[in-house]
Amino acid sequence: MRLTKEELKDLMKKKLNKAGLTEEHADGVADVLVHADARGVHSHGAMRVEYYAERIAKGGLNTAPNFKFEKTGPTTAIFDGDNGVGHVAAKLAMDEAIQMAKENGIAVVGVRRIGHSGALSYFVQQAAEQDLIGLSLCQSDPMVVPFGGAEPYYGTNPIAFAAPGEDDIITFDMATTVQAWGKILHARSKNESIPDTWAVDKNGEPTTDPFNVNALLPIAGPKGYGLMMMVDVLSGILLGLPFGNRVSSMYHDLSEGRNLGQLHIVINPEYFTNLETFKQNITTTMSDLNNIKPAPGFDQVSYPGQRSAQREAAYMEKGIEIVDDVYEYLVSDVVHNNAYGNKDPFAK
Ligand code: NAI
Repeated sequence: MRLTKEELKDLMKKKLNKAGLTEEHADGVADVLVHADARGVHSHGAMRVEYYAERIAKGGLNTAPNFKFEKTGPTTAIFDGDNGVGHVAAKLAMDEAIQMAKENGIAVVGVRRIGHSGALSYFVQQAAEQDLIGLSLCQSDPMVVPFGGAEPYYGTNPIAFAAPGEDDIITFDMATTVQAWGKILHARSKNESIPDTWAVDKNGEPTTDPFNVNALLPIAGPKGYGLMMMVDVLSGILLGLPFGNRVSSMYHDLSEGRNLGQLHIVINPEYFTNLETFKQNITTTMSDLNNIKPAPGFDQVSYPGQRSAQREAAYMEKGIEIVDDVYEYLVSDVVHNNAYGNKDPFAK
């Protein structure tokens, strides 16, 4: 099913509003979700609405959070999300970080006690659209084996970065696992197998069956494992939040807030170099990369985020493609089908 960006956002907003979010927060969440679907990151788009709706209905997302923003120094602050929707808290915290970086050159804003915040590219692009560099990191539920381990300890702990070019933004946004958990859910929703490099089964053996996954694998062995440790320190331990395998599960108890952490770092290029030269050089980086001789089997080297931007442009013409089950749920009267609660995250 193909929908325009506006149609898809409107369906998601209505469902989240029906589930109990205020219209303002439903709009904020739908905006982040449609951003992900429009860029082809379907693992973090409309397919998450039913999970959020169930969590809202069961009380595990505060629908009337008391957001608190507190400056802790000239360039540092804490945004307390009161276990409201992470998408909205992370967006508002980034707005504050942008303002601080414009005034002081840099801002580090910790976002405490939030629910899942979706695709981090959304937040770092907020900064890049204002001629700033954005970095964002967040915790995620423990489902990844540390290098050499046979049981999960860290989450898929993503890292995102965006910087402004002259007419475009370079955006890098990745889970520190070979694949995000949402990609396994996406494979499940389409009944497709997965490559044997993504995940392990309950014996720690590689698996191609998305329904047999018991833990994900970090990117590049000990190096990805080190990065996910760094994300957990910066977005969890630094903010006084549960860390490592103490981070709440996405699925165990949908009636409790998740207390997740996220860290936004915003850098103002003007405090380091000439802004116009910086933007020109980002644009030059993009074209340099595009002009690198492609390896056999590749048409062109893409810069990070380029393929997502191209997908978005194509979707804007043809409509965003959504799997039928997700569309049928969105247009139905059902708030949720009780499909996610009290589950082992790896349950089929
Ligand atoms: P991905 O594997 O689709 O892409 C990772 C990065 O590689 C992107 O920046 C992409 O532009 C770049 N890339 C991919 N193919 C490329 C190519 N051929 N040439 C050049 N660059 C290329 O992303 P992943 O790891 O699956 O993450 C998906 C989303 O999940 C992200 O938006 C992330 O923020 C989100 N996420 C959110 C979590 C949360 O708890 N909020 C947890 C984990 C992931």
